[in-house]
Amino acid sequence: VLNLKEQSPLKHIAVIMDGNGRWAQQRHRPRVWGHIRGAHVVSEIVEAADEAGVSALTLYAFSTENWSRPVSEVKVLFALLKKFVQRERNKIIRNQVRFRVIGDITHLPAETQKLVTQLEQDTSHHCGLKLTFAFSYGGRDEILKAFQKMALENKNDHITEEMFNQYLMTHDCGDVDLLIRTGGEMRVSNFLLWQLAYAELYFSKTQWPDFTSEEFKNILSEVSKRQRRFGFIQEGFAPKDIVRKSHEHKDYLSLETHSERF
Ligand code: IPE
Ligand code: IPE
Ligand code: MG
Repeated sequence: VLNLKEQSPLKHIAVIMDGNGRWAQQRHRPRVWGHIRGAHVVSEIVEAADEAGVSALTLYAFSTENWSRPVSEVKVLFALLKKFVQRERNKIIRNQVRFRVIGDITHLPAETQKLVTQLEQDTSHHCGLKLTFAFSYGGRDEILKAFQKMALENKNDHITEEMFNQYLMTHDCGDVDLLIRTGGEMRVSNFLLWQLAYAELYFSKTQWPDFTSEEFKNILSEVSKRQRRFGFIQEGFAPKDIVRKSHEHKDYLSLETHSERF
């Protein structure tokens, strides 16, 4: 199938889906009600990202820190992941979406793990939107695991950033271009720490169950107008050139040269 969709300049979008609990509490309902309502928003945003020509969408659904929440709440979140996979499976396959879960899901019910793995396998060759759920995920945990594996496999090699990237769980999604966090908090909460290095950040006061595809699209068009400089002041450099240039200039910019020149 020929893909005639216009590509978004924001290739990789990451979302911290926050505010479910407060949304429910404000309505005098149990927190889990917010999670249930929030789960329905997920499908709408996945569709909107696909329509907007985004190439990767990474959604934070459960952090390593969220394990310290009450068991009853944790169990509902597990159940919602399972439900999502069951409910969306056909649509994901039909739309050529490539599905993946990052994080340590080995403590989830076996049946859920099986459903996740099955959908990952069935969609691994898909060339549409790369949809990733971060579940039982922590940025530091990911970096540590990647580093341990890399160190084992490359004992005597010179280690580069590009090499390290290959060991990350999002290795084929590239750096994050835009991070959206709903719910009004302005923090990263251990999400994609390495990949966020040069991401544009957008914080919305909307709580996740109230988030809409309309707001999502408005954010995309607003952020697309921002000028991303990557530390440079000249215009017209592609990010790849910039990385190469900054390496070329490493010696030139060493402290010694610096003090001699100025
Ligand atoms: C985000 O909503 C979902 C998860 C962290 C699992 P919260 O549950 O954190 O909702 P608030 O932030 O307490 O409102
Ligand atoms: C971040 O939200 C994790 C997810 C949205 C899955 P939290 O609600 O857990 O983060 P903090 O506690 O406000 O930092
Ligand atoms: Mg929260």
